[in-house]
Amino acid sequence: MNGKAAITPFGLYVHWPYCTRLCPYCDFNIYRHRGGNHDDLLHAIIKDIEGHGARINAPGPLHSLSLGGGTPSLLTPAQVSALIETAGRVFGFADDPEISLEANPDALSTQKCTDFAKAGINRISIGVQSLDDRNLRFLGRDHSADEARRAVDAALQAHVRTSADFIYELPGQTPDDWSRDLDAALTLGLDHYSFYALTIAPGTAFGVQRAKGRLIPADEERAASLFELTQERTKQADLPAYEVSNHARTPAAQSRHNLVYWQNGDWVGVGPGAHGRINMNGQRHATSTALRPDDYCTAIRKTGWGVIEQSLLSGDDTAMEALSMGLRLRGGLDLGQLNSQTGFTLDQDKLRTLIADDYLHLGNQILRVRQKGWALIDALVLELVT
Ligand SMILES: C[S@@+](CC[C@H](N)C(=O)[O-])C[C@H]1O[C@@H](n2cnc3c(N)ncnc32)[C@H](O)[C@@H]1O
Ligand code: SF4
Repeated sequence: MNGKAAITPFGLYVHWPYCTRLCPYCDFNIYRHRGGNHDDLLHAIIKDIEGHGARINAPGPLHSLSLGGGTPSLLTPAQVSALIETAGRVFGFADDPEISLEANPDALSTQKCTDFAKAGINRISIGVQSLDDRNLRFLGRDHSADEARRAVDAALQAHVRTSADFIYELPGQTPDDWSRDLDAALTLGLDHYSFYALTIAPGTAFGVQRAKGRLIPADEERAASLFELTQERTKQADLPAYEVSNHARTPAAQSRHNLVYWQNGDWVGVGPGAHGRINMNGQRHATSTALRPDDYCTAIRKTGWGVIEQSLLSGDDTAMEALSMGLRLRGGLDLGQLNSQTGFTLDQDKLRTLIADDYLHLGNQILRVRQKGWALIDALVLELVT
């Protein structure tokens, strides 16, 4: 045994798609917030949670509830409270659940954080992105570095677990540039950080600029050196990566909700454009909901839940997902457990080659990515699963 919990972690993800400003790099399912409380969407999401409760075999009470987006910090504390109450009524909560909220630094006051905490939120993840005002302008953010610092303080004052997201690998960013921003990030003294390399997706404003040759992404060599720098500096600061982009001071500080995904747990996904992995009639299904808020609300009025697409996942499908998620974790994944759960075995020739080339390590049935493989994680996973 590798000490991993044998129970299936179970989470609920609520997607709140509204943002006051749409960032030019963002490829999430987002819509501009033009005022109002969007109570129609809130009530639809509540119905969707209830609809899931009536249809699925939940593996137990919830270990985590995550309000993500978009910008769920635009919800009022009363709306947040209604969502938490519904989740608890429908699925129940395990001991010490993680109840988290993604927040934009804009207008995140101590009072607001305290009100969210009173509503039941115990973790706030703040989209700081950078502590350099020039980077923030480039990223199209609606807050300054000082406002982001104040937002982090506000969350800490409210005594909730606090995490900050940063984006690096900006076009033209040198190791020295990133080093300064990274040091400023670590000076915040938080127990959890997410450091994401900028991805530029077609269809986003940045994607359009890249297609026109006006925005040149970092090349592979630069990307690898920025990644290595992140690993070194965070290790020195006692914030080792427990996942490719996520760093925690202690195991208790890790994001339990993201671990549900990375450890191939079950989760219900509600809200426009949310995905889920749920068990129905003893079989694992992938679910998705309508992207547009209006279509999502219409689906719920018609059928009593938001799922518009569901597909049965075979053992191989499940194994591929488990591999591509699990390998992103420092601790790796248990191939023996994967085989007993799904019947899947890896191509032994590929595995042997990647181990011999020092990209992977296999010991005691646990498959892990070695240092050399981290900067190439996506390519490695692809090589293994195709
Ligand atoms: C779904 S967003 C929600 C956070 C919140 N709306 C905000 O922006 O402050 C979660 C995080 O994803 C990251 N992110 C979004 N788009 C990204 C991209 N194209 N490349 C890298 N990171 C990205 C950002 O760090 C962001 O804070
Ligand atoms: S990064 Fe955050 S605030 Fe910006 S558009 Fe995406 S979800 Fe909205």
